[in-house]
Amino acid sequence: MKKSLKIGDLVVSPPVLSAPMAGYTNYAYRELLRRLGGVGLIATEMVSARAFVCMGARGEGEPERLWGVQDEPRPLAVQIWDNCPETLEELAGKLANDFKASVVDLNFGCPAPAIAKRSASGSYLLRDPEKVGELVSRVAKACAPVPATAKIRLGLTVDTVNAFDVAQAVEGAGGAALTVHGRTAAQMYRGSADWDEIAKVKSALRSIPLIGNGDVKSAQEAVDRLNGFPVDGIMIGRAGLDRPWIFREIAQILAGEEPEVEPTLLEQRELLLTHYKLVVERFGQERGVILMRKFAVHYSKGRPGGRNFRDKIGRVSTEEEFFDVVTNDFVVEENQ
Ligand SMILES: Cc1cc2nc3c(=O)[nH]c(=O)nc-3n(C[C@H](O)[C@H](O)[C@H](O)COP(=O)(O)O)c2cc1C
Repeated sequence: MKKSLKIGDLVVSPPVLSAPMAGYTNYAYRELLRRLGGVGLIATEMVSARAFVCMGARGEGEPERLWGVQDEPRPLAVQIWDNCPETLEELAGKLANDFKASVVDLNFGCPAPAIAKRSASGSYLLRDPEKVGELVSRVAKACAPVPATAKIRLGLTVDTVNAFDVAQAVEGAGGAALTVHGRTAAQMYRGSADWDEIAKVKSALRSIPLIGNGDVKSAQEAVDRLNGFPVDGIMIGRAGLDRPWIFREIAQILAGEEPEVEPTLLEQRELLLTHYKLVVERFGQERGVILMRKFAVHYSKGRPGGRNFRDKIGRVSTEEEFFDVVTNDFVVEENQ
């Protein structure tokens, strides 16, 4: 049974990571995950290195996505993106020395047009393993001894899968771990993650850990992927939004314990309200209500009455309306 993995000197135990997700893995969500337990390493949303450097030069402080990072509990991975070595290097150095991040992760997987097309960053860089290597090398040197890691997709398209080459470039440049999302950039989020392709990357790596990612939906599936594939760890994104307690369940199974039964709908509603409180503490009430609409949608996925709940929660704009819908429409009997 795989019980932990090492990223540089950092022991990640259990070897289960929560994925960076822009717009979601903010300070409030990270705090919620910490309270629930079971995550070996939590990641921030991706932070634009260019925004950080430009804002600093203009004396405007830091990008909002770095809020809380300096003081929150460790371990914490901060993910960054750009295509310019100097810019990435500057942010990586600051993250290691001033912010005391546990890990600096480089994004080579994002397929969103704003990043990949207009900024020639994220998954765009997969076409050029050498460039990936250069960026990893600069970041690794700038943040040493804090480990630098990379998160990639299988390649740009199914015809140009090159995760093997990119993996070698990452390790050769001093990367301390590699996460592979088992889709190509062209797939965006369509189709399904190909774990056999993820597995092939293992033989490209000499000693750094391989973390598999994509479409893990339940705790048992997470454990099966971890045991059934040559990966050293797994990373979970969307299932952690639908069921934030999934990490605790995985940790229990890995520890040989009987996993707790799924929280009741009433308990899930309590958790949704706790999440709301954390979001409002961080973002204020007005913004918090709007932000929580999308989180609440995740909590309702696959639950009885979910469609009606989603319909209503999508339209709330005040705290009163939010509480009203959560109180009246979240907990619904199966046969209603
Ligand atoms: C809303 C959303 C935002 C995401 N933002 C990021 C990001 O900031 N950085 C990143 O590397 N991946 C990002 N991803 C990709 C996830 O980290 C992950 O690779 C992907 O969702 C597959 O894992 P999953 O099936 O467990 O969700 C994002 C995914 C989603 C759905």
